[in-house]
Amino acid sequence: MTKKSRIRHHVNPLADQTKHKFDGFDNDKPIIVDIGADRGEFVEGLIKKLSDSKNFIVLEIRKPLAQRLEEKFSKYENVVVFDGDATRNLKDILKPSIDRGIIIEEIYVNFPDPWFKERHKKRRVINKKFIEGLRNWIQPETTWIFQTDQKQLFDETVEMLEKLNYIEIKFFDNSPHGITTKWEDAKVTDGFDVNRLKFHFL
Ligand SMILES: C[S@@+](CC[C@H](N)C(=O)[O-])C[C@H]1O[C@@H](n2cnc3c(N)ncnc32)[C@H](O)[C@@H]1O
Repeated sequence: MTKKSRIRHHVNPLADQTKHKFDGFDNDKPIIVDIGADRGEFVEGLIKKLSDSKNFIVLEIRKPLAQRLEEKFSKYENVVVFDGDATRNLKDILKPSIDRGIIIEEIYVNFPDPWFKERHKKRRVINKKFIEGLRNWIQPETTWIFQTDQKQLFDETVEMLEKLNYIEIKFFDNSPHGITTKWEDAKVTDGFDVNRLKFHFL
């Protein structure tokens, strides 16, 4: 009998060549984006809460997970799922909607992989190069939401963002829209703090 591996292999986003184009939804409702949705628990909470007042874009780099998300959300007309590295695909996915005047209301980066090793830090979703590349096209109306129980990741991200004079950061305490995931609940039960910030481009 073969033993199933329980090791979770991290995907190296820098090796991902997936390319997406998306013309946008066929309505003008604001768009909410979840980067690194995993099993989609958080964005499912958002979809149920905000129902069809918004459109949702769900991004997940691990293809099997993206496939499951696609199946999970196939019943919703206002949800699209893309696989691949969000940091490489975000512009192609969002820019056509932005050009039509649609507001990208919120972009969530919830509990992302921390990539602690110095040589791996460039794989973090919120990294300097990615943020700098957003500057010329992302809307000032877009609120970015970053949550993590990893204090070192949080502090290093704050340090990086605070050096950018075209970004405004706000720290906040409670789960956005009152939605938590099993992962977050378990961390809090284990006594970890969840660190949260929002930022937008000036
Ligand atoms: C630790 S999980 C957090 C999941 C979820 N956001 C939550 O709050 O429960 C991080 C997720 O981000 C995905 N991911 C990592 N880098 C990514 C990238 N560059 N683009 C899209 N997804 C990414 C991983 O595959 C994983 O599913």
